[in-house]
Amino acid sequence: MSVNKDIKRVTTHVLQAMKEQGEKITMLTAYDFSMAGILDEAGIDILLVGDSASNVMAGHETTLPITLDQMIYHASSVVRAVKRALVVVDLPFGSYQGNSRVALESAIRIMKESGAHAVKLEGGREVEESIRRILSAGVPVMGHLGLTPQSIYKFGTYTVRAKEAEEAKKLTEDAQLLQELGCFAIVLEKIPAKLAKKVAEQLYIPLIGIGAGGAVDGQVLVTHDMLGITKDFQPRFLRRYLDLFDAIKDAAEHYARDVRSGDFPSEKEQY
Ligand code: KIV
Repeated sequence: MSVNKDIKRVTTHVLQAMKEQGEKITMLTAYDFSMAGILDEAGIDILLVGDSASNVMAGHETTLPITLDQMIYHASSVVRAVKRALVVVDLPFGSYQGNSRVALESAIRIMKESGAHAVKLEGGREVEESIRRILSAGVPVMGHLGLTPQSIYKFGTYTVRAKEAEEAKKLTEDAQLLQELGCFAIVLEKIPAKLAKKVAEQLYIPLIGIGAGGAVDGQVLVTHDMLGITKDFQPRFLRRYLDLFDAIKDAAEHYARDVRSGDFPSEKEQY
């Protein structure tokens, strides 16, 4: 029997039941009303208002510049469109590290001002106090381990993480810790598939992978990447389901030709 099939509203409990039944969880990013409505109608289980908005919506090189106010703006737009999916919002860089009171204030602003259902944050032991405090206010928290883009200047590159034993051990311990603290799920980004499989077997909460192989409980991709709106980003883990960059460009060129030639608007397209 499928847990997911007739679910009217995805909750953290539904996700847990899906893991227990071995049903894969689907997750994509969303940053605006129109796209969120389409993805929700498609039955995607989790819509992540990712801080990747900093890259794909605002054109920054990293996720660091996006602000809490900007995340709340994106999240509110997504929430207004969604009827079924769980909406998870990234806590942006600087809004939760180092001071758990600030972390709680940031999480509360997201929940109150956007109407989202949960927050996500990057890191393990280093952000333990922030996670504890946010959870103590009843806000569900999704963890994020492996390649954590907010730490890009510490890593130096976007290459695969936790290939060495020491980093793999820390990641395994961090995943255990996040589960013990009460996180409802964890994103594992760009780590060896074997390591992700091992962690998924040890944990009872769902693990959602991006570049972490197929043995985890679900998958997430950045929507702009899987639709082919972004062109130059081509990591091995990415499967493109459309080539929207060229499709949109062709349509815009067609429109421009029609305007310039006087073909648009026609008699039928005016009052
Ligand atoms: O911000 C984001 O899009 C993310 C995903 C890559 C998981 O965190």
